[in-house]
Amino acid sequence: MSYSASEIQSLFDRIAPIYDQLNQSLSLGQHRIWKQMAVKWVQPQPGETGLDLCCGSGDLAMLLAREVGTTGQVTGVDFSAAQLAIARERSTNRYPHLPLHWLQGDALNLPLADHSVDCATMGYGLRNVTDIPRCLRELHRVLKPNAKAAILDFHRPSQPLLRAFQQWYLDTVVVPTAKRLGSEADYAYIAPSLDRFPKGLEQVQLARKAGFGKATHYPIAGGMMGILVVAK
Ligand SMILES: C[S@@+](CC[C@H](N)C(=O)[O-])C[C@H]1O[C@@H](n2cnc3c(N)ncnc32)[C@H](O)[C@@H]1O
Repeated sequence: MSYSASEIQSLFDRIAPIYDQLNQSLSLGQHRIWKQMAVKWVQPQPGETGLDLCCGSGDLAMLLAREVGTTGQVTGVDFSAAQLAIARERSTNRYPHLPLHWLQGDALNLPLADHSVDCATMGYGLRNVTDIPRCLRELHRVLKPNAKAAILDFHRPSQPLLRAFQQWYLDTVVVPTAKRLGSEADYAYIAPSLDRFPKGLEQVQLARKAGFGKATHYPIAGGMMGILVVAK
């Protein structure tokens, strides 16, 4: 089962009202730690220009903005208007002083100039785009020379027990919890999307093909998550 881009866009518009609540409870708050790790990998500096691709409700963009400070600027890009509306509201309430911009756009055709970004993050987005090589090429295009990006997503662990645990957790915790909130089908898509998603080493190869000079994949949470760190 794979979705078209417009189906993915509708899915994320639909789940926007419950997305943060589910993220928090289903990861037992761990997603915040993994997102902080992703931001640390790109070493954002005060005054820099940051990008959060597939920003959703804006967690990573806000973490980046705290690092680049009032002299920098961060743009969160997503194609879901409903997710961006939540991101805008959250950032206005929490960080009204930080220069955060929310831009509706396609990660496969970024509305950004070549070589314009100092550091970038992407959380749980790469697995959802319909053309991963193209997305990586777009990311490469907009980054400045030597700029870094960290791409956080689910990962299938190689260890059989952990792999079985991950599948059990998706089937018996994630999907039933989403069902209670009326979004069973929307969360049932996670497992098949994860099966299609390239493993760590394959991600590294795709990043190199897209032009990145350096690419390393770091498994986290026992390999149930991973961060692909790339440098142009
Ligand atoms: C699972 S959410 C992740 C949101 C956020 N980054 C986080 O970590 O919580 C994936 C996001 O990717 C966005 N997305 C998927 N494909 C996209 C594309 N081609 N262009 C822009 N956004 C896209 C969806 O709208 C959704 O908000």
